[in-house]
Amino acid sequence: MSTPQQPHGPLRTFGRIKSRPIKPRQAALLETLLPKIAFDPAEPLTSETWLEIGFGGGEHLAEQAARHPDVRIIGAEPFVNGVASALRHIDERGVANVRLHQGDAREVLAALPDGALSRIFILFPDPWPKARHNKRRLIQPEVVTELARVLKPGGRLRFATDWADYANRALEMFIASPHLRWSAGEADDWRVPPADHVTTRYEEKRLGDCAPVFLDFERV
Ligand SMILES: C[S@@+](CC[C@H](N)C(=O)[O-])C[C@H]1O[C@@H](n2cnc3c(N)ncnc32)[C@H](O)[C@@H]1O
Repeated sequence: MSTPQQPHGPLRTFGRIKSRPIKPRQAALLETLLPKIAFDPAEPLTSETWLEIGFGGGEHLAEQAARHPDVRIIGAEPFVNGVASALRHIDERGVANVRLHQGDAREVLAALPDGALSRIFILFPDPWPKARHNKRRLIQPEVVTELARVLKPGGRLRFATDWADYANRALEMFIASPHLRWSAGEADDWRVPPADHVTTRYEEKRLGDCAPVFLDFERV
């Protein structure tokens, strides 16, 4: 007797993909604006390109896009309400340099060539604090390998969390990569929000078990 096939593919790293009903204006933007600015792997990378993974409501994404009009910023987020909120910020601020992927950021990583990105932001990813859920965390050795692959030499990656165990485990995995160098020289480098940081909605909620930790790495 043959063993039934197990469904395969990466474990889901996110929780719900839809919560409250989407307001009419945001629903309209999902119909009209999202198709225009959807991430297209075939679009040539003609300008410096950054990626934000799990942008939530998109406040950080829109602010960084406004501050850096010459940079193309790709945002990936499967949570529909988050995408709708980001579209509102993008529309209100009139930023033209954002590309959105409504879905798993690992699909974006897989579609990008080596050395495509100058910066990656992973800000307050789902913490999955219960031990039996830890395997759902985004940061796993194979994802670290992908993150390092898509960063260009000298490119930078920022990981922030307010969960101590996730900070420790992620740090171990990042520094195990021969391609990533932790930029911290002293405790304030990870305890104090970096000068270019934009406070996020999730960060403000202080739901974790420690103060926010900011881990910045450089691709070597
Ligand atoms: C805890 S929230 C933080 C949101 C935002 N970065 C903030 O700080 O406010 C984590 C977000 O990551 C998203 N997420 C989880 N797994 C993801 C994945 N594989 N690709 C892209 N986004 C993901 C979730 O949908 C969720 O919106």
